[in-house]
Amino acid sequence: MPKSDDIQAHYAGAKLAERIFRSLEEAGISRTGVTPEVLAPFDEFHVGGITATARVADRLGLDPAHHLLDVGCGAGGPARVVAVRTGCQVTGIDLTPDFIDAGVELNRFCELGDQVTLTQGSALDMPYGPESFERAMMLHVGMNIADKTGLMSEVYRVLKPGGIFAVYDMMKVGTAAVNFPMPWASTAAVSAVEPPQVYIDAALASGFRLSSRHDETKAATGFFRKILETRPEPAPNTPDRFRNLALEVTSGNLAPTELYFVKAA
Ligand SMILES: C[S@@+](CC[C@H](N)C(=O)[O-])C[C@H]1O[C@@H](n2cnc3c(N)ncnc32)[C@H](O)[C@@H]1O
Repeated sequence: MPKSDDIQAHYAGAKLAERIFRSLEEAGISRTGVTPEVLAPFDEFHVGGITATARVADRLGLDPAHHLLDVGCGAGGPARVVAVRTGCQVTGIDLTPDFIDAGVELNRFCELGDQVTLTQGSALDMPYGPESFERAMMLHVGMNIADKTGLMSEVYRVLKPGGIFAVYDMMKVGTAAVNFPMPWASTAAVSAVEPPQVYIDAALASGFRLSSRHDETKAATGFFRKILETRPEPAPNTPDRFRNLALEVTSGNLAPTELYFVKAA
């Protein structure tokens, strides 16, 4: 079962914002005029990047009156993109301090500090009162959280009646063992990848209703092809997490899956 310390160690990376700015400079983009869209190739840590974030935002039916919770927000890339696209307020929470530090700095550069708030903490014990948010999303985080029922009941608690929770995770749909390392875990010990039904059972047990389900394998296949066109070949005998994931998805063992859950009004 993944432990908090192991997950933080897996994702740790000091001075992420600095490294992102260096990559932007190498691409000929200056710090001034940085926007969430410009940052997206560097701060969206899920398959499909900004395209997938926009798809989730559209399916959530967000508007400027909504307050959105981003569970496991990483460095805040998706939170900033959604804030700018929809005008809504976004609060993100993530276990990894380095990601939150970078996210706060990137918010400042994007002048989004008033609209996007990022806090370090666990999805299983969130520092928010009951019925605080109209919408919640969680992008590629559940693969690190074994306690799916604890996760679902905590999100259910902080959602307002009528609220919607979007989950976009890699889920197990085939029968083969997963070939680690994966982007979210070096070994099976840090992974909690599960079939869609495990998420659905946990959500129903917490009080949610399932409103829709989407298999995004086709969109992901195009995303993998585009990235692999320019990605350098790995050195011999060096495992490549991204290539491993692409193989798991194209072979039908893992599926990028979106599940939308509703809390009764
Ligand atoms: C693959 S990244 C995705 C980040 C972000 N959602 C995105 O799409 O850019 C997974 C994130 O989940 C976070 N995470 C894992 N377990 C968590 C937990 N129990 N509570 C909060 N965040 C968690 C990690 O720290 C990491 O930032």
